[in-house]
Amino acid sequence: MTDGDGTPAAQVRARRFGPLGTALVIIPTYNEAENIKAIVGRVRRAVPEVHVLVADDNSPDGTGKLADELAAEDDHVQVLHRKGKEGLGAAYLAGFRWGLDNGYGVLVEMDADGSHQPEELPRLLTALKNADLVLGSRWVTGGRVVNWPKSREFISRGGSLYSRLALDLPLRDITGGYRAFRRETLEGLGLDEVASQGYCFQVDLARRAVKAGYHVVEVPITFVEREFGDSKMSRDILVEALWRVTTWGVGERVGKLTSRPPRK
Ligand code: GDD
Ligand code: MN
Repeated sequence: MTDGDGTPAAQVRARRFGPLGTALVIIPTYNEAENIKAIVGRVRRAVPEVHVLVADDNSPDGTGKLADELAAEDDHVQVLHRKGKEGLGAAYLAGFRWGLDNGYGVLVEMDADGSHQPEELPRLLTALKNADLVLGSRWVTGGRVVNWPKSREFISRGGSLYSRLALDLPLRDITGGYRAFRRETLEGLGLDEVASQGYCFQVDLARRAVKAGYHVVEVPITFVEREFGDSKMSRDILVEALWRVTTWGVGERVGKLTSRPPRK
């Protein structure tokens, strides 16, 4: 990247980012009874000043009740009880709305199963001082995954590569779910129009942030596959992602073609 005056890098350097307000870590859960207490405890120990919101989709295994117990003993922990399983995207949208309504300055996404290590959160928050959005990234130098089967790594790398090419995004880990947003960034993404339900929600938000001109930074993370419980990844989630990313990509290309000045 060139770096003279007026180039993107120089413009970002010249930008002033305001101070970070209080952070809310949103943890969506569906059947995470074996993980919820450990993850909330780790977040609270790693960064004691942050608050936690568990967004539970009425998990049949009682995760919501365990989260209520945590909230009863810690005023930094809250629970959003949702009616039923509506997907990761819907749970995050509800959590973001709750966090914005309650005045938080930073909103963090984190899985419940320990894959996103709370001990790495300070690095994400430090990077956010000079960014609009920070993505925890498995696929930049220094990032890695532990205990993932090759098949899963292939799907994830493939998903990011496809999204990168189809949507023309200068990012390496586009599907990841360990992220920190400034509230102003979320407010500028048009959350009311987001229809993505499954993991393509992550692609949707990354795409919106880049297209809106926000400064998006990737920070390397070590993603550790869960020890307890099961992944909610399914064929339907993959199909939704492939379908939506392709539709967005085609839409952008058609948009570019039709917005060309007419030829004389
Ligand atoms: N409330 C709610 N509702 N939570 C959900 C739902 C849902 O329908 N589906 C999944 N979750 C929660 C899980 O309980 C977990 O806390 C988190 O979302 C991630 O789900 P996993 O099932 O553990 O995801 P994964 O390990 O397969 O997926 C990884 O890859 C995805 C795609 O790259 C993670 O890195 C995700 O963050 C990432 O989007
Ligand atoms: Mn997981």
